[in-house]
Amino acid sequence: MKPIRDEAFALLLKYNQSESLIKHALSVEAVMRHFASIFLEDPVKWGIIGLVHDLDYEKYPEQHCTMTRKILEQENWPEDYIRSIVSHGWGICSDTEPVHIMEKVLYTIDELTGLVTASVLIRPSKSLFDMELKSVKKKWNIRNFAAGANREIIEKGAAMMGRDLDFIIQETINGMKTVAGSIGLAGEA
Ligand SMILES: [Fe+2]
Ligand SMILES: [Fe+2]
Repeated sequence: MKPIRDEAFALLLKYNQSESLIKHALSVEAVMRHFASIFLEDPVKWGIIGLVHDLDYEKYPEQHCTMTRKILEQENWPEDYIRSIVSHGWGICSDTEPVHIMEKVLYTIDELTGLVTASVLIRPSKSLFDMELKSVKKKWNIRNFAAGANREIIEKGAAMMGRDLDFIIQETINGMKTVAGSIGLAGEA
């Protein structure tokens, strides 16, 4: 069985009603696709993995990652997809360490999309299109701003990727721009 994007999206909607969780899923999907193209990997596979990475979070927050594994096993998803998805919770809700570059990117950008989103929403334009790297960096050290976006995890992920943070933040912004309208960050116009 090879997961198909539309089926993965339908599965996401079956388990999630929260608008913010769905926007988070779409953000992570877009950024995963973007990094896949940078690393000359498969954007379809990377995107699908990003799309469903928090599949269980709305219904089973206490069993995050564990329930996603169960659901995807029932849906006959391939083990390598499931493994990559649960590795985003390494050290928190799973003991599967990110090894593949796709897993390292997912681990890194998951929290980062939250920080970027929060940084856009406080701008008058509410738009990703005039969002600069330096605006996100200014917010980086203000730890009670978007406190849920764990900077240590992002730093740990960047080290695993072997890339500097500026590159990762900039490309995360670029990836999110590709779905700015769907995630409500295209400005008011
Ligand atoms: Fe998660
Ligand atoms: Fe997430």
